[in-house]
Amino acid sequence: MTTSDNMSSDFDELEEFVMTEMRRIYSEKALDHSLNPRNVGHIKDAEAFGKVTGPCGDTMEISLRIRADKVVDAAFWTDGCGTSIACGSVTTELVKGNSVAEASSVDSRLILEELHGLPESDVHCAVLASDTLKAAIRNYQTKQKSTRKYALGIMVV
Ligand code: FES
Repeated sequence: MTTSDNMSSDFDELEEFVMTEMRRIYSEKALDHSLNPRNVGHIKDAEAFGKVTGPCGDTMEISLRIRADKVVDAAFWTDGCGTSIACGSVTTELVKGNSVAEASSVDSRLILEELHGLPESDVHCAVLASDTLKAAIRNYQTKQKSTRKYALGIMVV
């Protein structure tokens, strides 16, 4: 057996050990969203955009494509931990295809439920995703209000 074979076998054992530990702590679904995140990135000229930095110092961004008050596309980005990646990913899946009103009811409790729970120390990662979603929806609603005011202004003139 060569030195490189030994290193490769050591690496495989280490990887297996890490994955076993992760499976002990996180659900399969949380691991899947963390390792294979959905909807990563930004939507160009999104109707809604939110950016929040949590108390841990990590930042998340969520952008939404909204048509006729329905979320037709959603994307997230984060510089945070693996759990924040899972939370951002599942949040985009929870809002896609739903009305803005339904999307605004997605909170950290639902995100945690969807990921089949997280350790107590990671709950704030779900709160970061939910706060970022709320910021994006607020951004959309503010834009809607100013568009309505502008349209009314044109009608009054
Ligand atoms: Fe900061 Fe998870 S540790 S979002």
